[in-house]
Amino acid sequence: MLRIDGLNAAYGRIKVLWDLSLSVGSGEAVGLFGPNGAGKTTLVNCVIGFLKPISGKVLFQDKDITGMEPHEIVKLGIALVPQERELFPNMTVEENLRAGANYVPHARERMLEAFDLVFTLFPILKERLKQKVGTMSGGQQRMVAVARALMSFPKLLMLDEPSVGLQPSIVSELFSKLREIKNQGVSILLIEQNVKQGLKVVERGYVIENGRIVLEDSSTNLMNNEHIKKAYLGL
Ligand SMILES: Nc1ncnc2c1ncn2[C@@H]1O[C@H](COP(=O)(O)OP(=O)(O)O)[C@@H](O)[C@H]1O
Ligand SMILES: [Mg+2]
Repeated sequence: MLRIDGLNAAYGRIKVLWDLSLSVGSGEAVGLFGPNGAGKTTLVNCVIGFLKPISGKVLFQDKDITGMEPHEIVKLGIALVPQERELFPNMTVEENLRAGANYVPHARERMLEAFDLVFTLFPILKERLKQKVGTMSGGQQRMVAVARALMSFPKLLMLDEPSVGLQPSIVSELFSKLREIKNQGVSILLIEQNVKQGLKVVERGYVIENGRIVLEDSSTNLMNNEHIKKAYLGL
């Protein structure tokens, strides 16, 4: 589904990603864990086309998408829930959701179906359609951000630290939704600093530190890994 091969990326002269390789299989949920400043957001920015890598390749469904424009990449079936969520606070839930489908022709044609899909997943959004997003709780806004990404019928959903700032019960709720989304056949790349909760969603994970992948294993093995226990789980 997604394959990143030997990616190098920089901001001006400052190199941030070093020979980074990572893959997400069809229907698979994969984690990318690492501390602040490790390069996680830079990596998704390279995938979605906000940042052009210096070298290396990004393949999506065997198609080379390296250096393509974001709107073209979204059309191919990749959606991102960005770290800066970029919802429109003065617009209603409905308007924000529509915006998620508007730039993707095949999704625009299936807008009603898309609404049904996100209402099944997040029933509360149906009741709140006319509410301005800026007046909702942090947890509800996060649900809107995920729902908006789903409005484009993505094959791959990437989430950049979706748990930040949410209380633990809301994180559990949100992550159980991610499992439902995966069960519907959407591949997931979950970026998290909350490794403990994140490992419950994904089957496999990578650890990125200082722009390099330092560890790659199944969730079970990562949970029992000494470095993970010490550095990320506080054990
Ligand atoms: N727009 C930018 N310009 C210059 N440096 C940046 C920019 N964005 C991020 N960086 C730097 O790149 C490194 C990786 O950042 P980032 O990908 O945001 O890490 P993470 O998402 O893992 O916290 C950090 O050292 C950060 O300071
Ligand atoms: Mg980040």
